[in-house]
Amino acid sequence: MNQLYDGAQRSISYLRISVTDRCNLRCRYCTPEEQFPLLGHGDILTYEEIILIIKALVPVGIDKIRLTGGEPLVRRGLPRLIACINDIEGIRDVSLTTNGVLLAEMAGDLRSAGLGRVNVSLDTLKAEKFLYITRRDDFLRVMAGIDAALAAGFAPVKLNVVAMRGFNDDEILDFVALSIDRPVQVRFIEYMPIGSSTRWQPDAVISAAEIRMRIEAEYGRLMPVPADHVSGPARLFTLSGGRGMVGFVSSLSDHFCDRCNRVRITADGRLRPCLLADLEYNLKKVVRNGADAGAIRSLFAEAVANKTQGHGLSCNSMKKCTRLMSTIGG
Ligand code: 5AD
Ligand code: SF4
Repeated sequence: MNQLYDGAQRSISYLRISVTDRCNLRCRYCTPEEQFPLLGHGDILTYEEIILIIKALVPVGIDKIRLTGGEPLVRRGLPRLIACINDIEGIRDVSLTTNGVLLAEMAGDLRSAGLGRVNVSLDTLKAEKFLYITRRDDFLRVMAGIDAALAAGFAPVKLNVVAMRGFNDDEILDFVALSIDRPVQVRFIEYMPIGSSTRWQPDAVISAAEIRMRIEAEYGRLMPVPADHVSGPARLFTLSGGRGMVGFVSSLSDHFCDRCNRVRITADGRLRPCLLADLEYNLKKVVRNGADAGAIRSLFAEAVANKTQGHGLSCNSMKKCTRLMSTIGG
């Protein structure tokens, strides 16, 4: 069977699956202040359904899976799902994006289950600012989680830092120092206008170019690392003497839509061809109607064919996509 190409000749090989909309943090740019509705257990895809979907999509080119949330580690039995995905012939990479709170307890089990790589989201290295931005007092648990991931043998451990002016722009060099001391890949991500990120405003965005300039003013020229199949949309650099790397995900200032190879499945089982476009396909309904692999593949092919060519956002655009980030998974 053939690999799928979308209308812009991008080959689609990477599936990001949000396994839950629940999260043990309440990041201000992701979740609203007030109570917000959560999905019921019957609304999210079961592990069996997720496996069925992946098995249907491997023959059309999906070989890379990332599990996201909400916070994926709050869903019971996640190592079991990882082990099953890892056993599917044709899958060559299983990874996870986590806030790190439960990683200290789970890193070993995740590694044994066959998880290949882990990304930890962390926007500050100061406990009091962590409490402010996430509304939870778990900074030390996350730091312990990063150490546990390194100790369990995950390499590299990637740190996702959403750069926000007025919040963490004074910590850019501290994050860089962390990448010098430890084999972590610190990736600065441009702040995007998504869902309930109601605090988003153009001035809060710090462009990758600005961050890079600030780092180079202190450390001298950054040395580019050639892109490989696992570097994803980040442009990576090394610093002399550093054990890790720094990277930039310039989603707004220099978007990578033309290289995008991914499709998402939301926590409620919708196929979402583009993070920033609200177009979705009800995959859960198709699966629950007893669909065979062929029907899953046709819906997937339709979604891929209608994948947006470019999100059209820029650092100054106020257009927002409407869905909560915690149901898409980043
Ligand atoms: N802009 C950029 N990144 C975001 N994330 C969540 N909301 C935004 C946003 N508005 C990041 C999280 C996490 C990943 C899943 O997405 O910090 O690293
Ligand atoms: Fe924060 Fe991620 Fe949880 Fe959203 S899903 S509240 S960004 S940890």
